[in-house]
Amino acid sequence: MELGELRKSYRGDTEAFEERHLVSLDPIEQFRAWFQEALECPAIGEVNAMCLATCTRDGKPSARMVLLKGFGQDGFRFFTNYESRKGKELDSNPFASLVFYWEPLCRQYLRKKNAELEERYRDTTVPRPDYWGAYIVEPEVLEFWQGQTNRLHDRIVFRRLRDRGEPLGAMTHRGHGDWVYERFSP
Ligand SMILES: Cc1cc2nc3c(=O)[nH]c(=O)nc-3n(C[C@H](O)[C@H](O)[C@H](O)COP(=O)(O)O)c2cc1C
Repeated sequence: MELGELRKSYRGDTEAFEERHLVSLDPIEQFRAWFQEALECPAIGEVNAMCLATCTRDGKPSARMVLLKGFGQDGFRFFTNYESRKGKELDSNPFASLVFYWEPLCRQYLRKKNAELEERYRDTTVPRPDYWGAYIVEPEVLEFWQGQTNRLHDRIVFRRLRDRGEPLGAMTHRGHGDWVYERFSP
């Protein structure tokens, strides 16, 4: 298989994503509109799957898929079971998260442990493990990207103004609240 040739055709120039197509100048609302479109698209299997990249203090990056569990003006919420990513508790406690180990294991052991835990917690509330937490990420920058077949992709990037008095350049537009948005080169 020649992977170099593998490339999806995106949109044509007449279908470009222009600033006037933004449904809102609040990027969370824009995200909501695109997310809704994605939800209604049968070709997308797990619409809330997202990649979460983190970095240790000494600069070692890692990334993993997680499921987005909610979003709004206070941020984007998801659950994770990585020890150092403890967060605020929310109302979800998947039972299987108790059966989480940091050592390699076999599926048979996983089944046995799961059965034991099901038995142990049959009539009681499952305690939330220390290593299971939820995160709320407060976005500072949100990029809306639409691919163009001719590679003049559309990138409209919202960022929060740290200083509301900051003078804006000719290509920087005021959005909702303390958001501004700009178009970037593909
Ligand atoms: C589609 C998809 C959704 C996932 N959702 C979650 C999730 O919501 N929370 C989670 O902790 N792991 C989730 N996982 C598993 C993680 O990607 C990963 O395997 C696990 O968190 C361990 O990664 P880490 O040790 O780098 O944190 C998901 C995986 C996939 C493929």
